[in-house]
Formats: sequence, structure tokens, C-alpha cells
Amino acid sequence: MNSLLKIDNLHVSVNGKPILKGVNLEVRQGETHALMGPNGSGKSTLAYALMGHPRYEITDGRIEIDGVDLVALEPDARARLGLFLAFQYPVTIPGVKVADFLRHAVSNVRNPDRKEGEGLIPMREFRKELKARMEALGMDVEFARRYLNDGFSGGEKKRMEILQLAMLRPKFAILDETDSGLDSDAVRVVSEGLARLAGPEMAVVIITHHERLLEFNRPQSTHVMLAGRIVENGDATLAHELHDQGYAGVRTRHPAIAAEETVEKTEEALVAKA
Ligand SMILES: Nc1ncnc2c1ncn2[C@@H]1O[C@H](COP(=O)(O)OP(=O)(O)O)[C@@H](O)[C@H]1O
Ligand SMILES: [Mg+2]
Repeated sequence: MNSLLKIDNLHVSVNGKPILKGVNLEVRQGETHALMGPNGSGKSTLAYALMGHPRYEITDGRIEIDGVDLVALEPDARARLGLFLAFQYPVTIPGVKVADFLRHAVSNVRNPDRKEGEGLIPMREFRKELKARMEALGMDVEFARRYLNDGFSGGEKKRMEILQLAMLRPKFAILDETDSGLDSDAVRVVSEGLARLAGPEMAVVIITHHERLLEFNRPQSTHVMLAGRIVENGDATLAHELHDQGYAGVRTRHPAIAAEETVEKTEEALVAKA
């Protein structure tokens, strides 16, 4: 049976300020979901809370995979249950090559009880798997010899993200693809990579407004966040409409929640002025 990621009444605060105010979301293994919403609505906060980032305090609600509550678990334990944690490690690790990083990450997920220096996947086996995955993704095998994130372009960072996904093969991947910093090479890498990896064993929640990403990876479900809640659910048509028309319609349909957003904006504006 397919696994189920269930987010139930999730409340998250940052620095004591409530940001998520009761998020409900269900994702089955193999599904593609788009999470959309205006800037500041809480999309990245949801991604960080799922990953177990310490700054994002869960004040109420549950995050479950097949009935197991993840809220009290460390990021590593969440990864072992099948959640993809893109930001689990420091951005740049001097002297660590892509291949070494991946060998450790994959060993951590597959051999949960391993101690440092033990239980690594044998080098030959790992190299063979890495090569096969890179070839399947159309990636240059030389990339694995680069130092991790050392001078990576936007596209190369995305290549790293896709390669991690291909090697870790999580049940649930949450990808926060901010639309601003993505150049066209990066968008192509993510669009094509995800399309190649998608299958019955992986679910993806794509946080993006980017048309091309969603065209290549047509979501079965689209969810719209506003002021810390998911206010609408639909299919790929909804993603398309939001891309064309923006969020004015969503705000009109949910005036009370949109008003909370305005209050927050006003507060921010006052702080900015002061
Ligand atoms: N680390 C943080 N420190 C302070 N405020 C934060 C932090 N992360 C998020 N927020 C606040 O939470 C709200 C939601 O932000 P975010 O989740 O980044 O929205 P989105 O990704 O939808 O643009 C914003 O008001 C933002 O200012
Ligand atoms: Mg964001």
C-alpha cells in the first residue's frame, strides 16, 4: 500500500510569532502536489517545519507518515521514514566532494544504526549506483568529483538537489523552488530531473509559481496558502489560473483570512517606518 504523509492542524511559530495557523494536507506516495500562495503566506515555513528545522516551533498539530508522528523526531530520523530533507546539511562543506557527501547521506538513511566511520555503503557498490543514477539523469559523471557547493551555479545547485533525490529515493520530497533565484538552466534541471524521477514510489510537493516546472510535472493537486492556512485545493487547472491571474481572486473568496494578511503587512510596514 502507498504511504501517506498527513499534516493535521499544524501550528508553527517563529520567534514566538504564530505563522502557520492550522494547516491540513494529505499526500500519498506517488502523487505530485503544487503548493502555491502569495509571498509571506507560510509556504517555506511549512517546508522547514516538515524538515524539523529548530527555529520553526510546532505549537500544535501533527505530522504523520503512516500514523507515526514526526514532530518529536530529529531531521535524520525523519529522513529514515522517507522524508526528503534538502537543507539538512551545511551549504558548503570545505574539502568534501559530491560523491563523498552522497555516500554518507545514503548510508545514514539505509543503515540507521551505523556509527561514524562504520557502516558506509561499500565504495564499489556505491560508485556503480551513483554512475547509473547520473547516467539515467543525463548528468556528467565528473560532477560527482566536484567539491560540494563550491562555486556551484544555480543550475549546479539544482543538479545536486536532483541527484540527492535520485540517490536517497525518499517517499516524500518537499522542494521549495523560490521563483526569483531560478535562472532558466536551473528551472530546466529541476523540471526535467523531477519528471525523470517521478514514479509510484516518490511523492513531490513542489512549492513554486513557475509555469514550466508545473507543466513538466503536472500536479494532481494544487493547494493555496493564505496567511498561514491552506484555503483552497484544486487540480492542475487551479495552478494554471493562479499563474495567470494571481491571488486577487483567492483574497476575495476568503476575506476574513485575507484581512489577517493585511494586518500583518501593516505591522511590517509600521516596523519598517519606525
Ligand atoms: N526565520 C524567520 N524569522 C522571522 N520571521 C520569519 C522567519 N521565517 C518566516 N518568517 C515569517 O513568516 C511569514 C511566512 O514566511 P514564509 O514561510 O517565508 O512565506 P512564503 O515562503 O510563503 O513566502 C512571513 O511573515 C515571514 O516574515
Ligand atoms: Mg518561501
